[in-house]
Parts: sequence; C-alpha cells; structure tokens
Amino acid sequence: MELHIPTQIAIVSIPIILFTCISSSSSSLSSSLSPSNLHPLVVDSVLEHLNYTAISEFRLLNRRRILECSDGNPYLKINVSGNATMGDEEYLTVNVTGVLVPADNDWIAMISPSDADVSYCPLNKIMYVQTGDLIDLPLLCHYPVKAQYLSRDPDYLSCKKKECKEYKDGQCVLTTCGSTLTFHVLNIRTDIEFVLFAGGFTIPCVLKRSNSLTFANPNQPLYGHLSSIDSTGTSMRITWVSGGKEPQKVQYGDGKSQTSEVSTFSRDDMCSKVVPSPAKDFGWHDPGYIHSAVMTGLQPSTSYSYKYGSDSVGWSNKVQFRTPPAGGSNELKFLAYGDMGKAPLDDTVEHYIQPGSVSVAKAVLDDVDSGNVDAIFHIGDISYATGFLVEWDFFLHHISPFASRVSYMTAIGNHERDYVDSGARYITPDSGGECGIPYETYFPMPTPAKDKPWYSIEQASVHFTVISTEHDWSENSEQYQWMKGDMASVDRSKTPWLVFMGHRPMYTSGHGLGADPIFLDAVEPLLLDNKADLVLFGHMHNYERTCSVFQNECKAMPKKDQSGVDIYDHSNYSAPVQVVIGMAGFRLGEFTDEPSDWSLIRISKFGYFRGHATPKELQLEYVNADTRKVEDIFRITR
Ligand SMILES: [Fe+2]
Repeated sequence: MELHIPTQIAIVSIPIILFTCISSSSSSLSSSLSPSNLHPLVVDSVLEHLNYTAISEFRLLNRRRILECSDGNPYLKINVSGNATMGDEEYLTVNVTGVLVPADNDWIAMISPSDADVSYCPLNKIMYVQTGDLIDLPLLCHYPVKAQYLSRDPDYLSCKKKECKEYKDGQCVLTTCGSTLTFHVLNIRTDIEFVLFAGGFTIPCVLKRSNSLTFANPNQPLYGHLSSIDSTGTSMRITWVSGGKEPQKVQYGDGKSQTSEVSTFSRDDMCSKVVPSPAKDFGWHDPGYIHSAVMTGLQPSTSYSYKYGSDSVGWSNKVQFRTPPAGGSNELKFLAYGDMGKAPLDDTVEHYIQPGSVSVAKAVLDDVDSGNVDAIFHIGDISYATGFLVEWDFFLHHISPFASRVSYMTAIGNHERDYVDSGARYITPDSGGECGIPYETYFPMPTPAKDKPWYSIEQASVHFTVISTEHDWSENSEQYQWMKGDMASVDRSKTPWLVFMGHRPMYTSGHGLGADPIFLDAVEPLLLDNKADLVLFGHMHNYERTCSVFQNECKAMPKKDQSGVDIYDHSNYSAPVQVVIGMAGFRLGEFTDEPSDWSLIRISKFGYFRGHATPKELQLEYVNADTRKVEDIFRITR
C-alpha cells in the first residue's frame, strides 16, 4: 500500500493513521490474528510474521508502513558516475539534482539487492537494539548497506549547485539545488540501488530511486584469507568468497593446485527468538558461496605465491604468502588483538562502525609488509556484522590485504555467537541472530566439530590453546575437559611456552560488564595447574597487563631489567600474566579510577599486541597504531 502524500503531511499523519487502525480493529485483533480481521495496511505483516511467537498487536500495526513522499517534483534526479557495470571496488560519485528545497534531513541510501524493501519499519528499532549498536540509523524494513545525508556536501543546504529549470521573459523563475556524495562500493554480488529519502532516519519516505547497478562479475573470487590447519607449517587453508557455486581452485607453489570445497548458509540457518533477529529479518544479505581449499606439501617458514578462482569465474591476483614456523622450531613472530571490526572508507553511516579498525589494520599491514609477522590471532568480536550479513564482506575486504599473506587464526566472541536459547553460555542477543554460523563458515579453524570452536596449535616454541568463552566452560563440560587435556598434554621441551586465549577476560579494570567471576573460578585453576605463561583476552576495549596473578592476587611482581623493562621469570613460576588486548577497533573503554593491585599497565588507545618467541624468552609489546610506538614492553623468561 502506498500513500501518495506530500512529505510534510506524511510525517504528521502517522500517529493519526495508527490511531485509526487501532480503534477500528483492536477488538477483533485481540481475539484472533486472522489476516481478514486486520486493517489492509498490516495484512502483509501478519502473513510474514505469523510463524513467530508472541506477536503483539502493537507490533503488527507498526510493522509495515510504506510512505512515498512524492512531492510532484519533476526535476529530481539521481545520477551515478562510472561505467554500466561496477568493478570489485569503486568510489562512486552520486549526484542528486533538481531539489526544490534542500533540507538537512534529506538522505540517500545504498541498498542491495535493488528490490530490498525500503518501506518504513519504525519498530525495527526494537530489533536493532539486539545488535548492541544504539546510534541513530535508518528505520527501513530492509537495512541499507550504507547511508549518507545530502548535507555532507557542504554546498547542499546553501544551494551552491544551482540550476535554473524555468525561465520567464529571459529571467530564471525556478532554481533547484543539488548534492554530490561519494560512496565506497565493494563487490557484494547482488545489484545495488541508490534511494533518496526525506524525513531523516527516523521517519523516512522515498523521494526518488536511481536505476539499479550491477557488478561486472558477481562471481569474482574475492577476500581470500589464510589459516593453519595443524602445527606442521606444511599446509595452509585459503578461504574466499564468490558468487560462483561450482568448485574453484587454488593454484600455488610450482604448479600445484587444490579444488575448493564450497559452503554457504541461508536465512533459515540464522537464529531468532520472540522478536525476529536482524540476521533473519532486516539484516539478511545473501553471502554467495564460501570456498575453502588446503594447500599441502609446503615447507614451514617459507614464502610462496597463490591465486584462486577458475577460468569460468576469473582469478584473484597472485598473492605472496608465508607459512608459519613448525611447532618445536625456534622463532615465532606473531600479532594478536581482539574486537577489531571495520569502518566505512567514505563519509557514510553504516551499522556498527569500529573507529579504530582502519588505523590498526594499516599498522598491521605495515608490520606484515616488513616480513616480521608469521601469524595473526584475532581473539573474538571479529566483524561486528551482528546480523547485518553484508558487513562480513566489508570486514573480509578490510583484513584481506594482510590475512591473505600470513596465517589468520581466530577465536569466537559474543558478537559472533551469543543469542537467546541458542546454546551459548551467555544469553545476550549480541550476535544479532548469527549464532556463529557465518563466523564458522568464513573462518574454518582446526576445531573438533561444528559449534565447538576451540582448538590448539603450535608454532615454533609456543603452544596456543584457544577456547570459546561463549560456550560452556564449566567443570565437566566438553570444552573444559578438552582444555584440561590439551594443556596437560603439552610437551614443554618442544614448546616451552603455553599461551592461553579466549574472548572474555578474567581480569579487567575497565568500566562496564567485564570479567565473569564464575568463569574465573572454573577455568583459572587450569592455568595455574598447567603453568600457562601468558593469557590473552579481548572484549574490553583497551589494553591492560597484570602481575603474575591468581585468584585476584599478585603471586609475583615482574622485575625490571637495566632498561626498565618488566621481566617475568618463569624459571621460578608462580602464576600467568594476563593481558587484555581488545583495543583493535571498537570505541575505546575507560578504566575505573581505582584499579586493583594486580593491574600494572593500562592503556586506552587503538593498537595491537606483538609477540616474539624464542625457546628462552617471550618478548611482548603493545603497539600504538597511530604513532606505531611501542608503549608497553615486557618479557617472560625461563
Ligand atoms: Fe566482546
């Protein structure tokens, strides 16, 4: 149903329309949800949502409203620069012309696919809260990929881009205004369209739509990233995305080749409860196909090149990569961080922006370029797509420059896994209904089975035990038994260092909900029993290093060497040092005014963690991503 009324009238009319609907049909609604009893405005909503439980009458009435604020302006146009079809990455110039009265609440959305529902869905705000992102965003029935106010062009409101549309007696009697905006567009396979709205994000109505634009090759293989499958350093998994369903190949080394296994996930795989989740509802986007192939027969700590794709869908560029060192060898250089996400590279607004992610990614790329990185560990809160599936493409594009060149190992976080009644340890809706499905598909790790995202891997002198804080870790749980056995079985003569990683911290003096004391009670004794050297967590958006800590007490303090660097002597082991490293992108968190004695170093700046392991020493650093300065350095020796 469309309401062809001027913008201003449309906006003030909404309460009246709602009131009319409620008063005319509320009695029949309360006795039955039969579509025939409903006002025509909400019939399609009922049909769509009958399968969900706990549908409130109020929600049904508010569910769908199509406003077309056609103001009869025949001059309005949207022109998009560029070719007939788009490449894999473009900065498109979008020109809006013919505006009669520029308003500061005029905005333009990039939607995909082009038939996405851009009706007004005010109650999406309730669904939106599930993602944890609470900023003001467009309340459309299908969430746009990105959006931008026309007033981002400083010439818009002042109407500097004037055009004369009507003359009388040689005099201009009608002028219009325009806005020119830039949109960073990635190949997300499905076609896109630009839609112009009045009414701001809160009460949007459609003014004009552009033509739909397609990608030149929706099947193009893109966003490759590497991971290790074991501790030998002789095999590497490459995972990439394509619109093509047929198996493709990775070609590597001197003429070797492996065929991809193809997987994907559907809207039905997303979880939902009571209120529909963003993943299942207005945040869904078709992921295409995720290809994954294991390159075998490699040598550890050696450089090779690869490309992936096929003759029919096309090939990626050739990428140089390096295998990690084999477990038991001498030297490892690794980076680690949590909570990175992504941020738009244009002036648009997107769902869940992580402002530090761009500078951290640049710094990480420079480190990888220098040849001094063997592996990267990203320990949870990976993309922050949280049910807005298109954002996985943006995140993969964000990390691919470095994740395609060294092993990129991950742990799961609350924003990948948690949802009500889904088997997660914490019943928050933080994954927006993804429930770990996209995460596991994009980042296949050497885990025991689906939805059991824990594993260990050895590189040089380090044994990494990677757990999921989002799955049951209580004593007698499968994961607890696994981590206990894994840490107990480490051959410390082969890998002297035991590094334990997960997402939620045991120790933090950051503001807000941080450490879970039940997690601490359950799992911390295992760290001491097995003499874990270093424990890394994210989730809190800052950097914090402890003393040698156990049960909230310092069991030992590090000693300073001649240059003032803290040394933890593990030849006389007392307890692990724990470090929070969730400062890689998400808005930074502050610390409490009076931190506990166990908190030695606290830094709230964007950055990442760097490690250098030899059999005798672990050197560890916090690197500020903006200045590239090492702002904390410590060593663990034995
Ligand atoms: Fe988190």
